[in-house]
Amino acid sequence: MYFTNMLIMEVKPFTEAEIQAFRADTKGTAERIHLNNAGAALPPDIVVNAMVDFLREEALYGGYETEAKYRTQLDHTHTLIAQLIQAHPDEIALVENASAAWDIAFNGLDFKQGDEVITSEMEYASNVLGLLNAQKLYGIVIKMIPNDAEGNFPVSALEAAITARTKLIAVTHIPSTAGNVLPAAEIGEVARKHNIVYLLDACQSVGQMPVDVQAIGCDMLAVTGRKYLRGPRGSGFLYVRRQMLDKLKLLFFDGRTVTSMDQQGFVVREDARRFEWYEKNFAVMMGLQKAVEYALNIDVERIWQRIQQLAFLFRQHLRELEGITVHDQGDELCGIVTFSIAGVPAAEVRAKLAARNMNVNIGFAKSTLYYMNRKGLDGIVRASVHYYNTEEEIEKVCLELRAISQQNAYKTLL
Ligand SMILES: Cc1ncc(COP(=O)(O)O)c(C=O)c1O
Repeated sequence: MYFTNMLIMEVKPFTEAEIQAFRADTKGTAERIHLNNAGAALPPDIVVNAMVDFLREEALYGGYETEAKYRTQLDHTHTLIAQLIQAHPDEIALVENASAAWDIAFNGLDFKQGDEVITSEMEYASNVLGLLNAQKLYGIVIKMIPNDAEGNFPVSALEAAITARTKLIAVTHIPSTAGNVLPAAEIGEVARKHNIVYLLDACQSVGQMPVDVQAIGCDMLAVTGRKYLRGPRGSGFLYVRRQMLDKLKLLFFDGRTVTSMDQQGFVVREDARRFEWYEKNFAVMMGLQKAVEYALNIDVERIWQRIQQLAFLFRQHLRELEGITVHDQGDELCGIVTFSIAGVPAAEVRAKLAARNMNVNIGFAKSTLYYMNRKGLDGIVRASVHYYNTEEEIEKVCLELRAISQQNAYKTLL
């Protein structure tokens, strides 16, 4: 069996019939092998139909009128998201993407010269830019904790790095260009013990694995809709723990930011929707809601088990192929599988697979800058599996990769 050295989890595996039903719900699986779920997953039909139907109604009856008709259902989006991550609906703000969510949280903090922010080497590009910008604007000190030799985030090093000036711990749960998972709950324990604000980028983890903000103990969480949640592009959300709401500055306003206003001032609304723009793409909001509901109905524990099994199989096959190096390291690995083929640039691998209707992506050096620099990587192939992928798809892609590697070896012999 493939999974002998995996932890056997007490979760019911999907039956073949269930996998086929997920694929029947996902039009894109008929024509291509989609292993770019960490870029944007294929949405199920129910997500696409919800958006198209909403747009049609807007065109026929008017945008405001359609919004009013579906107001209660639209508001249910916050409730479903809260259910997914064990939060309260009042702690959820809908935004356009994970970067927006992270920016609202991070830039809402009141940084002073010398404040320290601790991060990991797996931090995502836009977050690193936010840190560098705050370094330039306010003189914060960035403390980056590298992974240990086994590829794990060393929680003891985090604790050792904390001083009286530590203002924030900002880490990424699952990095953009590597297959490891950071120990978010252990990091949360340290944050709570030292009473430090904790911002978690869960862009790649929500929808892929169970994410419980109570168990993790984060104060803010940034998420996108289009990746493992299988929602629409241009959707995302920010979670802000209730006790943290009033500690974040508001970066922008519209009429719905407040519950009342007069010429002297205003009263900010109590919930996290203070961080939303009122005007948004309501069709996308409907799509996101359906995606969250779909994931909840399937059960994220089962999704996680299936993803880990497929990724394990994938890495195992890749390791058997000559000329291919798998980069993923760490005790807990996820559905993001990263590798290089000796002598073949990642962009060429992607193009050759695309010609065969196989989607993978490139992990660029800047995406996870600290990590890629330390490893001396300037680009890697990132293939990311979801639960609707199959063992056969992985085997087909591996055959293709073997051919690419062999063609290159042959070329270099000539
Ligand atoms: C770990 C991580 N964080 C944040 C982001 C940014 O997400 P978005 O493009 O939705 O802003 C990405 C995007 O790839 C990511 O992989």
